[in-house]
Amino acid sequence: MHTVHTIRELREAVTRARQNKKRIGFVPTMGNLHEGHLSLIDEARAQSDFVVSSIFVNPMQFGANEDLDAYPRTLAADQAGLASRGCDLLFAPNVGEVYPNGLEAETRVAVPKLGDKHCGASRSGHFEGVATVVTKLFNMVQPDLAVFGKKDYQQLAIIRKLVQDLCFPVAIIGIDTSRESSGLARSSRNGYLSESERHTAAELYQTLVQARKQLLAGKLLEEVRQTAISALESKGFQVDYFNIANRDSLEPATEKDQSLVLLVAAFLGSTRLIDNLEVDRQG
Ligand code: PAF
Repeated sequence: MHTVHTIRELREAVTRARQNKKRIGFVPTMGNLHEGHLSLIDEARAQSDFVVSSIFVNPMQFGANEDLDAYPRTLAADQAGLASRGCDLLFAPNVGEVYPNGLEAETRVAVPKLGDKHCGASRSGHFEGVATVVTKLFNMVQPDLAVFGKKDYQQLAIIRKLVQDLCFPVAIIGIDTSRESSGLARSSRNGYLSESERHTAAELYQTLVQARKQLLAGKLLEEVRQTAISALESKGFQVDYFNIANRDSLEPATEKDQSLVLLVAAFLGSTRLIDNLEVDRQG
């Protein structure tokens, strides 16, 4: 695997691959890669001939009080992981390469409605930062397809929408959340958890599973929501939100909706964890 740091080198390598009639698959990341990320590389490998990944801790998607500086940077281990799964090219730009004129002067991409609820309500500007950097990365790499995890369910919905609205010729592929045997969704932020917090963190998924059971048994949405919030609080989580949404619009679900998604964000100590679970109800 080859690592490049500039847009010029990236373009040269991708142009060569394209001249050789290769289909370009892309996996954007912020690094500190775990098995969940590497399974996205596997999918890109299966669906394309030349796999590009990027590692860029995007300052635009972090709030002033968030973990930008503390975010783990593990380039050497990430390069080894990517190479072991058959990634062809790693693009690892610095901030000046992506935002040469600073963040303030940047054109921004906003996805209203989808972007202002759930995580968007508590992380102001976060999804604008994600949508902007993904737009820039798509224009830099110009992939045929891009692979994202469903762990960031709202992010995936926003990326699908911006690709449609801005007419990007990029197929978006969503991959099921990779979980530890406890059910805990794999995340770079799990590294912030103490051993006992890590044990408790698995309850986030167990609570989603319980909530899905209750919905399938016909319990009312608001009752299920309140039960889940109380369960999480009793286990020591500070709940940011636990929402039951229509899977397509991500608007609050109604009792009539059949394709639902449960979306949760909760703090354990100072670590903010998110997870989600899809639910299909019969009419
Ligand atoms: O999911 C992530 O790691 C990031 O939000 C992404 C999509 C790489 C944009 O910075």
